[in-house]
Amino acid sequence: MKPYVICHMMPSIDGRLRTDRWNIPDAAHEEYDRTADTYRAQAWLCGRVTMEEFANGRWRRPAGRRSVRVEKGDWIAPRSARRLAVVLDSAGKLAWKKNEVEGDALVIVLTEAAPAAYLSYLRDKEISYVVAGRRDGEINLAAVVRRLGEKFGVKRLLVEGGGKTTGAFLAAGLIDEISLLLTPVADGRIGEPSLFDTEGNHSSKALSNVRIQSVRKIGAGMFWLKARPSR
Ligand SMILES: NC(=O)c1ccc[n+]([C@@H]2O[C@H](COP(=O)([O-])OP(=O)(O)OC[C@H]3O[C@@H](n4cnc5c(N)ncnc54)[C@H](OP(=O)(O)O)[C@@H]3O)[C@@H](O)[C@H]2O)c1
Repeated sequence: MKPYVICHMMPSIDGRLRTDRWNIPDAAHEEYDRTADTYRAQAWLCGRVTMEEFANGRWRRPAGRRSVRVEKGDWIAPRSARRLAVVLDSAGKLAWKKNEVEGDALVIVLTEAAPAAYLSYLRDKEISYVVAGRRDGEINLAAVVRRLGEKFGVKRLLVEGGGKTTGAFLAAGLIDEISLLLTPVADGRIGEPSLFDTEGNHSSKALSNVRIQSVRKIGAGMFWLKARPSR
């Protein structure tokens, strides 16, 4: 069965995302984590840009090594961590110190654009990966969600940004619930990542309607809004 997908984000009141630009208390980030935990998800997922801050810089192909051959398909490392930290990194750009992020086991989502040497690097580091997309670098998100359910036992998946990632999930019709912590700040800078960014979207119509289900006041001056996409 397809995992239940929750998009959990903390946008400014003008829908922008770069929290490092905002003068907000730590309590706001704590509220974000606290409300995320209420979903008891087995995995959380972010795009490559958001995950750069947890990575160990960029991966570089080892100099002087002969070409490597790696068996096709997904690879699942033995793991002790209960929860998964899933990263959309189609071409294999990020390097990692360990096979975990904040105690959660890494799963890298790649496409056939990732070099065999990168797959071999992930295996050496005991980092699981899923190959879901062709050489053009477009990730098949429906396949990713399905395989997280089938191969990793994920029943609830939190999609936690940034905007290109949430936009791609919403455009693919994969989001069951939207969970927003409206953060009391007006960002105001044109061009900042926003809540749902879709690349190559030239439609004159909005991406999706939503049905707002509830709004309630929580800590740090935030409001927690829950909604569902509706077509
Ligand atoms: N306020 C919040 O709640 C919140 C939450 C998360 C992040 N953020 C902020 O959001 C900002 C980043 O947002 P962003 O939109 O620029 O980046 P992002 O969504 O974090 O990452 C985008 C990248 O992920 C990969 N990707 C995403 N969807 C893909 C798809 N369908 N197919 C293939 N690759 C895909 C691509 O990597 P490649 O370019 O390598 O192909 C793409 O460029 C950061 O400033 C971060 O701090 C805020």
